[in-house]
Amino acid sequence: MKFFIDTANLDQIKEAQELGVLDGVTTNPSLMAKEGITGKDNILKHYVDICNIVDGDVSAEVVATEFKEIIKEGEELAELHEQIVVKVPMIKDGVKALKYFSDKGIRTNCTLVFSPGQALLAAKAGATYVSPFLGRLDDISTDGLNLIAEIRLIYDNYGFETQILAASIRHTMHVIDCAKLGADVMTGPLSSIDGLLKHPLTDIGLAKFLEDYKKGNS
Ligand code: G3P
Repeated sequence: MKFFIDTANLDQIKEAQELGVLDGVTTNPSLMAKEGITGKDNILKHYVDICNIVDGDVSAEVVATEFKEIIKEGEELAELHEQIVVKVPMIKDGVKALKYFSDKGIRTNCTLVFSPGQALLAAKAGATYVSPFLGRLDDISTDGLNLIAEIRLIYDNYGFETQILAASIRHTMHVIDCAKLGADVMTGPLSSIDGLLKHPLTDIGLAKFLEDYKKGNS
């Protein structure tokens, strides 16, 4: 399972990278705005800064919604750095763009996916990644994890190579559940990764080991 961090915050990206388990980064226009990154030039530079911190894929989202504009913007993003994956929304022109990029060998991440049908379309169009937003489904009393399971079943039925990138992960249990369901990738906040570390018995056990060591070596 690949671990991506879902942020445009460079300090958090560095921290996750230093842990040694980071496989990539996802961003979106809201996450960019949260970090105060505005204006096209600043946004493009920020993507390059992120690519220079991590070894893996960095999703950069287009803001165009019309086919030709999506293509223009996506090609510009892909030119920025070899690690860039062009993030395209699940709309009709987005599906056409996924197919276009796929034929040209440009890697894509189909975002804002909320149903198995949308995920099937994204795979048919050759998306590299599909991003089902499980937290946002949970927010409206719909089982987000069930969507991950449904997409896994459909992709396995036909051998689609599109990777399931479980997105809108909010906490550590989402990570564990997605791993059980066979999501290829998870993207979440740093806290969702840090939470995997924690267990009180680890802390208690380590304290006892160190105490016993001190007793035996003092
Ligand atoms: O990767 C998608 C993600 O950024 C959305 O997360 O927490 O805004 O639903 P959230």
